[in-house]
Amino acid sequence: MAPSFPLPSLHDPLLPLQEQLRVVQQRLEALDLGITRIAFVHHDAHTDLLATYGETGTEGGPESSHPSFEPRALAAVPSLGQLRDGRQARVLNDLERELDPTSEHSRWLLAQGWRASLTLPLFNRHSLLGFLFLDSTRAGAFDPRAMAALEPHLEVLLLRISSHFSGMASLHGTLQLLLEIADLRDRETAAHMERVSLYSRLIALQLDNHQQRPADFSENIYRFAAFHDVGKVGIPDRILLKPGPLCREERLEMESHVLIGMALVERVIAAMELEEDGSVDLLRQVVAHHHERLDGSGYPAGLRGEEVSLAGRIVAVADLYDALTQARAYKPAFSESHAVQMLRSMVQAGKLDGECVEALLLNDERRQAILLGHAAAQPG
Ligand SMILES: [Fe+2]
Ligand SMILES: [Fe+2]
Repeated sequence: MAPSFPLPSLHDPLLPLQEQLRVVQQRLEALDLGITRIAFVHHDAHTDLLATYGETGTEGGPESSHPSFEPRALAAVPSLGQLRDGRQARVLNDLERELDPTSEHSRWLLAQGWRASLTLPLFNRHSLLGFLFLDSTRAGAFDPRAMAALEPHLEVLLLRISSHFSGMASLHGTLQLLLEIADLRDRETAAHMERVSLYSRLIALQLDNHQQRPADFSENIYRFAAFHDVGKVGIPDRILLKPGPLCREERLEMESHVLIGMALVERVIAAMELEEDGSVDLLRQVVAHHHERLDGSGYPAGLRGEEVSLAGRIVAVADLYDALTQARAYKPAFSESHAVQMLRSMVQAGKLDGECVEALLLNDERRQAILLGHAAAQPG
C-alpha cells in the first residue's frame, strides 16, 4: 500500500494569514538564511492606508509594526511608493550601513538584531495588495542564490494572501450591496457607517494592550464595524424612519435588527464558504453584540461582562458616541462634552467598557477629525 501523508498545512486556505506566514517561516529555516520575521502589510486602495495584517518573529520591522506602528497612508511612505510604481523588490543587505543611523526607527530596527531585509510589493492583477517584509539576522542574506531559493515560497505566500483578501473583498462587497439595495446607506447614512468604523479602529488602536491582539484586529474591526446595523434591512420604514419616540412594540421590532443581522451575516458567510475563516468571527461579534451592555441590560441575549466580545464592546462605544454627537430624526446633536459625560456615566453604571471609552477619549485631535468628517482617508 502506498504511504499516505497529511496535506501540508499551507494548503488549508482557512488557516489565518498569521499562521500561514508562520508555516512559511518554518519552511524557510531549511534555507538557513537567518530569516526570523515575515510580515504582511496590507494596502487598502479605498483609503490608501497601510496596515499590518500578519506578522511572525520579533515585533517590528521596516515601515511595519514596531511598537508605535499605526496605520498610515502609503502616500506618506515614499520609499514604498517607489517599489509599487517600479514593481520592484528592495533588498537591503547591510542594514547597519544602509540605514540612517540618526533615525530612531533605524536604531530600533538594528536593536532587534536584523541586518538584512527584503521588501516586496504584492499585486493582484493590477492592484497593489500590500507589502511583504522578510528580515534576516545575517548581513548579505538576500544574495541572488537566496533570492532564487526564496522564489517558490514567495509565490505560495502571494497566492495565499491574495485568496484571503479576495474572500474578504467579496464578503465586504456583498454586504455593501445588500445595504445599497435596501437603500439603507442613505437612511442610516453612509457617513454614520464610516464614522463608526473609524471610531472603532481608533479605540482598538488606543487600547492599552493592543499589541497582544492579532496583527489584523484593528483593521478587521474597521472593515466590519460598518455592518453592525446590517439587519436594519429587515425593519419596515414606518419604524426605521419614524421621527418621534417608538412605542413598546415598535421598539421591540426595531431591536430585532440584531437577530435579523446575525442570520443574514451567517447566510452570506456560508454562501462564500467562509464559515471557518477566523477573521469573520469579528463580523459575527460586531453584529451580535453591539447592543449588549456589560450589566446584562442589553439585547438580544442580555450577555454580561466578559461574555460580550471585545469587538462588540468597542463598536457599542463607537456607535453610541456617534449617535450622541450627531443629530437624529428624534433628537438634536449633543455637544462633545455632554456626550463624553453620558458615556462615562454609562461606564459608572457598569454598562460600557471603561477602557474602550477612555481609549476613544485619549486622542482629541483624531476623534474630532472623525466627528467633523475630515478623517475618511486618515488613519483612525
Ligand atoms: Fe444597532
Ligand atoms: Fe448604528
